[in-house]
Amino acid sequence: MIPEEQNRALHAWQTSARYWDKHRVLIEQMFAPLTSSLVEEARIGAGQEVLDIGGGSGEPSLTISCIVGPTGSVMYTDPVAGMVETAQAEAGRRGLTNIHFRQCSADDLPFADRTFDVAVGRLSAMFFVDPVTAVREALRVVREDGYVSFVVWGPKGANPFLSTVTDVIDQFAEVPPEDPDAPDAFRFAAPGKLAGILENADAKNVSERQLKFQIKAAISFEQFWQLRTEMSGTLREKMARLAPAQLPTIKQAVADAARRYFVSGTMSFPAEALIVSGRKSAV
Ligand SMILES: C[S@@+](CC[C@H](N)C(=O)[O-])C[C@H]1O[C@@H](n2cnc3c(N)ncnc32)[C@H](O)[C@@H]1O
Repeated sequence: MIPEEQNRALHAWQTSARYWDKHRVLIEQMFAPLTSSLVEEARIGAGQEVLDIGGGSGEPSLTISCIVGPTGSVMYTDPVAGMVETAQAEAGRRGLTNIHFRQCSADDLPFADRTFDVAVGRLSAMFFVDPVTAVREALRVVREDGYVSFVVWGPKGANPFLSTVTDVIDQFAEVPPEDPDAPDAFRFAAPGKLAGILENADAKNVSERQLKFQIKAAISFEQFWQLRTEMSGTLREKMARLAPAQLPTIKQAVADAARRYFVSGTMSFPAEALIVSGRKSAV
């Protein structure tokens, strides 16, 4: 990624930070199955020292802080100042004292070798500038045999929560050809792609597990529309390019496409993620 694109991406995340904070209760609830699977996969337990890479508005750091308890600790990291601020404020509101915060990028971690027991990232690895370097960094800072685990989205077709709005908008706006290796929600959706990166970075015992779950919340289509169009930088950018007069037609088309996921006042989308893990080998 050229530095100009990198800055644009970080700027978009900076704008996203206020919306991820605004919707934090829903985000925590909707993506909770991803956190519990990551915790299980990386064998996180009481007393451990855990690194969270790309922690966004605070997950999985906030959940893990309670699991590791007073004898353990969590180091939350994210390169975006707005994300760090909102996550830190939430930890303060919850009175959590075993989380520490550092603003940094995954490919340049400001920690000594073998500082942590485990490193995890929830829905962040797809946005790493240089994934092999980032995974090498994660492996460098964990102790021997320590787990490095990432959860990423599976294919677009299996994730209508993400694709429903985008697919409709793409029919109305010109979509530039996509680079499959550019940072994007579905960059690691292909089986084996992120696992191959862990192998290239010299992780041992690399594994990949598919996780099917439901993204559920007691919200209306109207609330879903607001959530999606605010949370996603890609969607905000696409919407900004549309003529305002097109919006009602687009929103109605999305409502029609999404109708089956809203029943009796509850939203429930099928979803698919991949959990990719490896361990630090002896040096
Ligand atoms: C989809 S959000 C996920 C946030 C959080 N982990 C969650 O699951 O709610 C992606 C996060 O990756 C972060 N990110 C972007 N580029 C990154 C990089 N180079 N290194 C680490 N994190 C990065 C963003 O700032 C954002 O907070």
